[in-house]
Amino acid sequence: MKSGLSSTTVVSLIAFLSSWTAASQAQPTSAPPWMNTSLTPGVRAEMLQSKMTREEEVRLVHGYVGLDSPWLPRGYTPAIRAALPSSAGYVPGVARLGIPALLETDASLGVANGGHMRPGDQATALPSSLLTAASWNSDLAYDGGAMIGQEARDKGFNVLLAGGIDLTRDPRGGRTFEYSGEDPLLAGTMVGAAIRGIQDQHIISTIKHFAMNDQETGRGLMSANIDNASMRESDLLAFEIAIERGDPGSVMCAYNRVNDTYSCENDYLLNKVLKQDWGYKGFVMSDWGAVHSTVDAANNGLDQESAYNLDREDYFGDPLRMAILDGSVSGDRLDDMARRILHAMFANGLFDDPPVKRPIDTEADLQVAQRVADEGIVLLKNSDGLLPLSAHSRSIAVIGGRADVGVYSGGGSSQVIPIGNNPSQEILIGGAVREIAGRPVQIPRDTIVLDPPAPLAMIRAAARGTQVRFSDGNDIAGAVKLARSSQIAVVFARQWMHEGRDVPNLSLYGNQDALIAAVAAANPRTVVVLETGGPVLMPWLGKVGAVLEAWYPGNRGANAIADILFGKVNPSGRLPITFPQSESQLPRPVIPGTDGTPLLVAEGSRITPYDVDYTEGANIGYKWFEAKSLTPLFPFGFGLSYTSFNLSGLSATGGATVTASFDVRNSGKREGMQTAQVYVTPPGGVARLVGWSKVDLKPDETQHVTVTADPRLLATFDTVANVWRVAEGDYAVALGSSSADISATATVHITASTIKP
Ligand code: BGC
Repeated sequence: MKSGLSSTTVVSLIAFLSSWTAASQAQPTSAPPWMNTSLTPGVRAEMLQSKMTREEEVRLVHGYVGLDSPWLPRGYTPAIRAALPSSAGYVPGVARLGIPALLETDASLGVANGGHMRPGDQATALPSSLLTAASWNSDLAYDGGAMIGQEARDKGFNVLLAGGIDLTRDPRGGRTFEYSGEDPLLAGTMVGAAIRGIQDQHIISTIKHFAMNDQETGRGLMSANIDNASMRESDLLAFEIAIERGDPGSVMCAYNRVNDTYSCENDYLLNKVLKQDWGYKGFVMSDWGAVHSTVDAANNGLDQESAYNLDREDYFGDPLRMAILDGSVSGDRLDDMARRILHAMFANGLFDDPPVKRPIDTEADLQVAQRVADEGIVLLKNSDGLLPLSAHSRSIAVIGGRADVGVYSGGGSSQVIPIGNNPSQEILIGGAVREIAGRPVQIPRDTIVLDPPAPLAMIRAAARGTQVRFSDGNDIAGAVKLARSSQIAVVFARQWMHEGRDVPNLSLYGNQDALIAAVAAANPRTVVVLETGGPVLMPWLGKVGAVLEAWYPGNRGANAIADILFGKVNPSGRLPITFPQSESQLPRPVIPGTDGTPLLVAEGSRITPYDVDYTEGANIGYKWFEAKSLTPLFPFGFGLSYTSFNLSGLSATGGATVTASFDVRNSGKREGMQTAQVYVTPPGGVARLVGWSKVDLKPDETQHVTVTADPRLLATFDTVANVWRVAEGDYAVALGSSSADISATATVHITASTIKP
């Protein structure tokens, strides 16, 4: 339906809505009954919604893009302009009933002020979500969520557009850093904890992007095609677990189509799975520019059109009024939309404890960012105990990666302008790199933000008296000379990822592979520190002494890197994602929609809709590698420590589900954390992670651990009966320090059962 309504229609529409609304205009005199905090959110939402006029309901389901959005806002009245904060999105409240406006900001990595920045606006940059997932520590994910939730509150927001959880089906996906890897249990657990942390600060968190937004190329056009059973067992299971654990107030539907139907008008996803099967009580908001209809979207489950100005047309403004008027969307459905939004607002304290602006607690927040980085950085290689470095090394060469400035961060709507905003930034356009002098002003689209402090400065501080010299790495011969005349060479290498475009391949861009190979040839005591959105290829791996995967480590990332390099922190991160040996090992060697063009691919670069067939089904990441008998570069779950561990004494029981007990022992010489992982292989299937335990052990200390599998992780989804079905049979149980390093196995007999979703 078009928004261009005839003037006669508009007049009759206004008259109709006014008559409909006249009855309930009285102002409440004392505290209205829905402000009684002893009532449930459901009861309160129902009471308040019953007092709303149709017109007020329509306004509540119709959002605006934030005023300082990088996209040109259109359609603002002066009143809206005055009310709009610097934010991603805004939904006016209803003053007559005391309903607060929704003030929405991105995202999962901090209060994102990248596109919406006002001079001086800074926030604590958490490490990337993939790094947080690599900690395998849900308490830390909670703390990170609580930190950014509190900062969002302190800045006056009451909705955080967080909770990115689409599983990584393609590590070239431009938002790999914003998501939590390839496993539904790990991602669901970590994202659920982060959402809880955010919402415990009395603001709403979203979970996004529902569903299957697994590549950025053509994200507004492509259809993610997959059979429903596989989707339930993979991407949707991650959402299901995170929603159970985090209970987000809102679910953001995605840009892409799923099985030919746009996510934001997808009856199967929104009505059948989310609202019916999972009994979800909150509201579905659209991604920015992801709505394509009025009647289909409203009837198929969308509850709020976000940032309507970015949609091709205004769908939930006048067209929705018209649809209510002509009955194509029922009044009951509009009531339901409003009730769901109010439910999320009551459940998360938006009425009872609204945000109050105040300065953020920078020091405390930076410490949270560092604790996350400390546990999420992964040691991938450490030949002959090269690491940790001694503070008394003779000399250290630090090379490349802008280590003199800061650490890399990912681009797009999640971009945070960090505390201590850097004086220098880097612009990467089509693979070329050039410098600009940065200022806290509107950030151009392709600017890479480097989070301070500089690793070079942190290494200098940790190395005390040691001579530390720097080469920017642009001149390979100069870097080689420096490495040759130093005892140790630390090369910083980076990959930049950005929402809205996938990286063309998994290689480090520019001269970085050549630089690392040349430095390692000159000095075998070469340590590579990777700052990447996700997995990268390492053609030089056999030649270097050590590799540290630091991801995008955030506002205290440089401190964490230095602490790990010098052994103040014992690395304990484990890969939440498989590192392939080459793109040819991926289910789709070429990103669908790019035709193999080795360029950064902006969204919408294809003008015709197209299909991406996820024929690997639920076999994502390590499951795909097992199914195809492929050996990765580094397996899911992998990571080294400065100490060593034994996993022993596995005893497993079956019945309705698998319970595994075992001992984890620190067999090395220093304290450290081990993440013991339990995988179960159903008859005829591939191994699935069913649980883990991260334990902190002193030398010689042993801890006994018990892990019980959620039976859905043993099951297949029966789409006809709409139940999870656990098949009777013998299931293999494996205990390991990664999906590929298995210390002990057992077999248990599982009885048949069904589980209602
Ligand atoms: C992104 C969302 C984000 C929204 C608002 C969209 O482009 O996909 O994740 O929350 O913008 O900034």
